[in-house]
Amino acid sequence: MSTQLDKIKELIALRAEARLGGGEKAIAKQHEKGKYTARERIAMLLDEGSFEEMDMFVKHRCTNFGQDKKTFLGDGVVTGSGTIDGRLVYVFAQDFTVFGGSLSETMAMKICKVMDQAMKMGAPCIGINDSGGARIQEGINALAGYAEIFQRNILASGVIPQISGIFGPCAGGAVYSPALTDFTLMMEGTSYMFLTGPKVVKTVTGEDVSQEDLGGASVHASKSGVTHFTAETEEEALALIRQLLSYIPQNNLEEPPYVECTDPIDRLEDSLNEIIPDSPNKAYDMYNVIAAIVDNGEFLEVQKQYATNIIVGFARFNGQSVGIVANQPCRYAGVLDCNASRKGARFVRFCDAFNIPIVSLVDVPGFLPGTGQEYNAVILHGAKLLYAYGEATVPKVTVTLRKSYGGSHIVMSCKQLRGDINYAWPSAEIAVMGGAGAVEVLYAKEAKDAEDPKAFMAEKEAEYTKLFANPYNAAKYGYIDDVIEPRNTRFRIIRALQQLQTKKLSNPAKKHGNIPL
Ligand code: HXC
Repeated sequence: MSTQLDKIKELIALRAEARLGGGEKAIAKQHEKGKYTARERIAMLLDEGSFEEMDMFVKHRCTNFGQDKKTFLGDGVVTGSGTIDGRLVYVFAQDFTVFGGSLSETMAMKICKVMDQAMKMGAPCIGINDSGGARIQEGINALAGYAEIFQRNILASGVIPQISGIFGPCAGGAVYSPALTDFTLMMEGTSYMFLTGPKVVKTVTGEDVSQEDLGGASVHASKSGVTHFTAETEEEALALIRQLLSYIPQNNLEEPPYVECTDPIDRLEDSLNEIIPDSPNKAYDMYNVIAAIVDNGEFLEVQKQYATNIIVGFARFNGQSVGIVANQPCRYAGVLDCNASRKGARFVRFCDAFNIPIVSLVDVPGFLPGTGQEYNAVILHGAKLLYAYGEATVPKVTVTLRKSYGGSHIVMSCKQLRGDINYAWPSAEIAVMGGAGAVEVLYAKEAKDAEDPKAFMAEKEAEYTKLFANPYNAAKYGYIDDVIEPRNTRFRIIRALQQLQTKKLSNPAKKHGNIPL
């Protein structure tokens, strides 16, 4: 008869076995590829010693293809809870050492269990993906498992923050879980995401493409916008996830964490008084403006390489987390196009869902014209950004630095889209359209009859510009609340955010709106 001590020894042995996942050989193979194991990743992600593992004794139930003779404690995923900077989070990390991290019915059950816990507790859920997709031996049960996960991703959206790390393969329908979460981070060189791999692509379309060119990190960071972040090392990636969470509340009913502010709130930034070039056609770098006004110049940019004509990311003002949305004049003059609109809209909606105030820095000449844009539905994509800003009920502070023309003026958090505090710099130009275009429409016929058509048009343009290319015309109607000195921008934003802390605004009751997708 086994004693109590024997039983404890058995437990210790079983735990040790579970911690080895697919075994020492498979772990060595994982390391050879320059990748960490699921448990190593979790240990690096969470506060030291905080991981509480769940379901380490779960085994798959499949009997097809002799699978009943191949079982591993915990199956292909490590799940549980822990803390990041002392705040509760739930995690799952697919274990490539067990059947290539492929998703079994029981693995899905484990993942769903932590997702359910995260929802009950109102805590973020972080998933580390490293998997060969559906476990082929399990067939439809693996598919059902994916669907169970997706359903939970959908219901958790806007309730708890969901973050996906892609640390290896993520292919087929498996890509849809990360796509449904708020943020995706991909590892450079060792991860890829695609619906169908290079072989299928070749068969169906005849196209020759490598894994990296089809769905590597750089492709999704710059071309598709599928990933929000990339990292060179797993250490860097996990630190980035920790940093991201520092700007975000635990759930949609809480506020983001406040961080002690060491940067003087009334710091004057003289450089901003000179940053706008005299010529309206000359660019300047919006990153310099952001760095000058936020706490300690710290800015966590989201989708850095995608649609670079708009900048989005997190920063703090007086310790308070905000989302920054800024046009980038030195990229295509900061014009709004399909991709920039989608990027901005998604970010605005994230901030609004999670009670993060939005600070918009505006310098936008308009929407990009042309068939390329129209055929790609710039109307609908632009409407997404419009919808997102208009729907948002979080505090919205807008600063117009220079151009703010036409539809893009409206879209970029104008007063009538319930902008709470709208400032403009003296260099602001807020009008229905630029001078050259306007006089073309108004005076083209008259110019033909003029003695010197060119001089006539130049005179009319100067007249138009004098009248409209300034902030005072909009301020005259109260569309701009105040015209501020650029070097005071940090202080004015901080004071505005302070004022807006008790903001109460809600939208009409509805099941959900119908955002132009
Ligand atoms: C079962 C799998 C598996 C899978 C990998 N393995 N993928 N087992 N189901 N889907 C096993 C391998 O047999 C191997 O087992 C171990 O995991 C490691 O895999 P390797 O091939 O040795 O690793 P590597 O060379 O790094 O290649 C990784 C890989 C490759 C590129 C991911 O394994 C691969 O192509 N796998 C199949 C991918 C796939 O087609 N998945 C199904 C897609 S359908 P041993 O015992 O030899 O160590 C799908 C539908 C989802 O996912 C729909 C959701 C809605």
